[in-house]
Amino acid sequence: MGPEGEEEDPQGGGIEEPVGRRPDAGPPEQLRALAEPLLERGVPTAQARGRAAELLTRLAIPERLWALPPATFSGGEQQRVNIARGFVTELPLLLLDEPTASLDARNREVLLREQMAAIQRQLGEADEGKSAEIAELEKAIANAHMPKEVDDQARKELRRLQRMPEAAGEYGMVRTYLDWLVDLPWALPEERPIDIAAARRILDEDHFGLEKIKRRIIEYLAVRKLSPDGKAPILCFVGPPGVGKTSLGQSIARAMNRKFVRVSLGGVHDEAEIRGHRRTYIGALPGNIIQAIRKAKTRDCVMMLDEIDKLGSGIQGDPASAMLEVLDPEQNNTFRDNYLAVPFDLSRVVFIATANMLDTVPGPLRDRMEIISLSGYTASEKFQIARRYLVRRQLNANGLKPDQVEIADDALRGIIERYTREAGVRSLEREIGRVLRQAAMRVAEGESGPITIADADLLGILGPPLFEDEVAMRTSIPGVATGLAWTPVGGDILFIEATATPGAGRLILTGQLGDVMKESAQAALSIVKNRAVFYGIDPARFERTDIHVHVPAGATPKDGPSAGVAMFMALVSLMTDRTVRSDTAMTGEISLRGLVLPVGGIKEKIVAAHRAGLRRIMLPARNRKDFEDIPEEVRQQLTFTWLERVDDAVSSALEPAKVAEESSADRETVSPL
Ligand SMILES: Nc1ncnc2c1ncn2[C@@H]1O[C@H](COP(=O)(O)OP(=O)(O)OP(=O)(O)O)[C@@H](O)[C@H]1O
Ligand SMILES: [Mg+2]
Repeated sequence: MGPEGEEEDPQGGGIEEPVGRRPDAGPPEQLRALAEPLLERGVPTAQARGRAAELLTRLAIPERLWALPPATFSGGEQQRVNIARGFVTELPLLLLDEPTASLDARNREVLLREQMAAIQRQLGEADEGKSAEIAELEKAIANAHMPKEVDDQARKELRRLQRMPEAAGEYGMVRTYLDWLVDLPWALPEERPIDIAAARRILDEDHFGLEKIKRRIIEYLAVRKLSPDGKAPILCFVGPPGVGKTSLGQSIARAMNRKFVRVSLGGVHDEAEIRGHRRTYIGALPGNIIQAIRKAKTRDCVMMLDEIDKLGSGIQGDPASAMLEVLDPEQNNTFRDNYLAVPFDLSRVVFIATANMLDTVPGPLRDRMEIISLSGYTASEKFQIARRYLVRRQLNANGLKPDQVEIADDALRGIIERYTREAGVRSLEREIGRVLRQAAMRVAEGESGPITIADADLLGILGPPLFEDEVAMRTSIPGVATGLAWTPVGGDILFIEATATPGAGRLILTGQLGDVMKESAQAALSIVKNRAVFYGIDPARFERTDIHVHVPAGATPKDGPSAGVAMFMALVSLMTDRTVRSDTAMTGEISLRGLVLPVGGIKEKIVAAHRAGLRRIMLPARNRKDFEDIPEEVRQQLTFTWLERVDDAVSSALEPAKVAEESSADRETVSPL
């Protein structure tokens, strides 16, 4: 083994630095190859270069090192390599002893870094990965178009990261933070002109009907087009499930040629979910607004704030007030997420909110939004939506072609009438899906020719109808009246049932009625007692009888004054033993004097009554103003009775008395008239 070490296997030493290494070079050669680039890079002056050359001669020491027999090193060949490396590492350290004026700041930093990396390598913390990572982050920061304040912050964090060993727990946190910063779309988005004609076409393409709503959307887009920087109102779609609120939002994004992202606010009761947690928390992340922005990758996205009515409020601060800040055009150009801790400009985001009901949307939030109500579809609208959109979509979803399976019109109507009862079209789409899956199975089994599903096939595919003429069945005995309710999922019909048992004039109320509803039951009973003689009821009967009023479904809490008329009719019907017409539904508040007072939600209630197959509606005369809102098609198929007083309801909807033997035994015990 000569000092040149030609005959040595250079790879045996395990020096891994790729810098200028020649595979055939002996170990001293390798060291020189390592030293030279360092010298070239770090030494600008002639004086320093001279010193460097002198230092280079010290490499004789490692040469001697290599001359020693391997047995000298207790740690084997690896130890020899490590010691040799130490000499090389020393080199730049020594260079730095030179008068520092000869090195500019940049070179000095490069040298120091080189050393740090070398030292870390020696300590076994070698991580070329880390420096590559830092270089990458630095580049990403430079390319992120951050505002000055954010850029400064990012660079500050990057410097912290450089100083940290990779194994430190905080390293990961700073790294994640920087990733968030560089990933956010800071750059100012370019203007996107809105093409109104195209927007109109897209809205029509995606949704059937909804003419008024589409017109409102087009107006909104037109205003935005004319003043892109103006403070546009925030649209809020309100309506029952499945009426197209979310999908209208998607259409708007398409019409504006923007990205669409959705933020679900349902069940959010912690302010931090919107605004993020401070970075001091373990596992902290930005809030869902910033998360959505990152997903959108652009600042001018359409952001749908879904279920804004389900925004809770808990002990952890008020999410609604964070939402207010997000939606406030005066403030949202400097929205501060707790995690980012730097302002982000949300002013170019187009916000659209959705809600099932407005009652639970906090007032200040509601004030900031422009409310657009969608109230649900009539049976024939549903039919059109199904034929034009849902069937095609479900065919696709189930891998079928339009020429393979067809659902006949009468079958579609059958699904709408007997298998769904909803304001929107979501269950309808699901049932169509079930029908088509069955057809897909038949096609897959090799059945040839186009398959047509007729109304008669539904029983076999979907089972017994879910909704049948419930109303006629339930109102076939005295003491039941059909009321109308407004709920967040659209209008609905509801039955008020009254029955009498021997007793002492008590009134029992069940079915989770709220206070207001209980009071209207009491008022209804008082009116019936008061006018007993007029209706042909023996007043003495009330003293011998307990009356029980129940409103199924008992598990759903109900409240509100609008069931007053129906309560009253159920009681009159019970006490006179005359049924209420089964084709009639009613709504209206009552006063103790027997006046019928106006109520809300008329449109939804009437559409629901129509959907349930009712044909006559009794409603407060003072609700005549709402008549306009009822869809034309529904209006034409229903008969309306306008009530001034409860007596109008009695004369319009109480059937004539039946012959006595029909009444059941138990009723006879309490009505021995
Ligand atoms: N007028 C319509 N024309 C065509 N498709 C419609 C129409 N209305 C609703 N749909 C379709 O019905 C489905 C349900 O609509 P969407 O998801 O938008 O309901 P939503 O109002 O957001 O309900 P939720 O309150 O439950 O979120 C969607 O697939 C949508 O495309
Ligand atoms: Mg939705």
